[in-house]
Amino acid sequence: MKLEDYIARVDDYPHEGIIFRDITPLMADGKAYHEATQRIVEYAKSKDVDVIVGPEARGFITGCPVAYALEIGFVPVRKKGKLPRKTIEVDYGLEYGKDVLTIHEDAIKPGMKVLIVDDLLATGGTIEASIKLVEQLGGEVVGCAFLIELVELEGYKKLHDKDYIALMQY
Ligand code: PRP
Ligand code: ADE
Repeated sequence: MKLEDYIARVDDYPHEGIIFRDITPLMADGKAYHEATQRIVEYAKSKDVDVIVGPEARGFITGCPVAYALEIGFVPVRKKGKLPRKTIEVDYGLEYGKDVLTIHEDAIKPGMKVLIVDDLLATGGTIEASIKLVEQLGGEVVGCAFLIELVELEGYKKLHDKDYIALMQY
C-alpha cells in the first residue's frame, strides 16, 4: 500500500508559504491507518519499548493505536495549561510558531524505555522538546517514529543522533 496516496497537500496553510501535509485522509481510511500503525508497531517491537509518548494533538492520533496494539501505556505531552497535575515544561519553536510543552512529572519512571511517536517531523522543535521532557524525568528515548518527514527542514538534526523512522518523506 502506498501511504502517500492518503496524504493531502494544502498550500499556504496555516500561513502563506507553508505546504501543509494533511494526514486526515489516512486516518479516515481503516486499512491505511492500520498499515501505518502496524509499521510503527514493528519498529517499536525491535526496540523493546516500555511506553509510548506522543505530543498533542496529532501525536495522540498516531501514538495511541501503537500503544494499544503493544498493550503498553501512552503518555501525553501537551501544550501548557492542559495537564491537570504537576508538570515540567520546555519552551520550543515549530515550523509556524512557538509554544510551551509539558508532561506530568510522574508520567515517566527513571530507566523507562520510551518511543516518541508523532505524525510529522518538520523543524524538529516539537520532538526536541519532547525528548528533553522525557530525559528530564529519567526516561531513555530508544527511538522516535513519524508518519512524515519534511526533509528540507532538516528536523532530524534536532534528534541528536537518536534512532528514528519516518514512513513517508517530502
Ligand atoms: C505539528 C505536528 C508536529 C509538529 C511538527 O503539531 O503534529 O507535532 O507540528 O513541527 P516541528 O517539527 O517544526 O516542531 P502542531 O504543534 O501544529 O499541533 P497539533 O498536532 O495539535 O496540530
Ligand atoms: N507541522 C509542522 N509543519 C507542518 C506541515 N508543513 N504540515 C503539517 N503539519 C505540520
